[in-house]
Amino acid sequence: MQPYLLFTVFVAAVLGLRSIPVFGADEAVLKPRVPIDKLEEARTWANPFEATPENIEKGKAIFHGKGFCVTCHGKDGKGLGGDIEPGILKGPLPRNFTDKDWQAARTDGELFWILKNGSAGTAMAPFIPLVLTEEEAGHVLLYVRSFGRQ
Ligand code: HEC
Repeated sequence: MQPYLLFTVFVAAVLGLRSIPVFGADEAVLKPRVPIDKLEEARTWANPFEATPENIEKGKAIFHGKGFCVTCHGKDGKGLGGDIEPGILKGPLPRNFTDKDWQAARTDGELFWILKNGSAGTAMAPFIPLVLTEEEAGHVLLYVRSFGRQ
């Protein structure tokens, strides 16, 4: 690293400028959440449901209802914790589903895997089969995907 760049980073860190940590966070979000040895298999899952308005609506009802996804991911899908008491969530914030880079980085299979297994070390718990059937998970994922088209 060039000395002047190092200096800039140092000054930014001292002044608490947020740009550098935010870049770091973006990359951290794009990193796969499925463990590397499960990734290939996870990616083979394809959503059996088509993104019709009716199916997306079913997913929305689950998101707000029995799945209680809205509690952490928010009405707007941005997951900024507006509905959550500060300090309740350990680990990273819920995903911003409107982030198109994140949407493009993930296959449906990876999202489905997370719904089955949770994301280790975060507040994202497994939902299948205790809370959601696989069918309901398929519908709710159509709704999650719809945030990326807004
Ligand atoms: C208790 C809070 C909480 C609830 C309830 C919750 N989530 Fe999450 N969710 C999180 C957090 C925190 C993350 C970020 C995990 C990470 O960074 O690995 C996350 C991540 C995700 C991801 C992204 C994983 C990835 O690959 O980046 C998806 C998809 C997801 N949640 C879907 C859902 C759905 C669908 C529901 C409802 C059935 C739900 N979540 C309910 C907290 C929650």
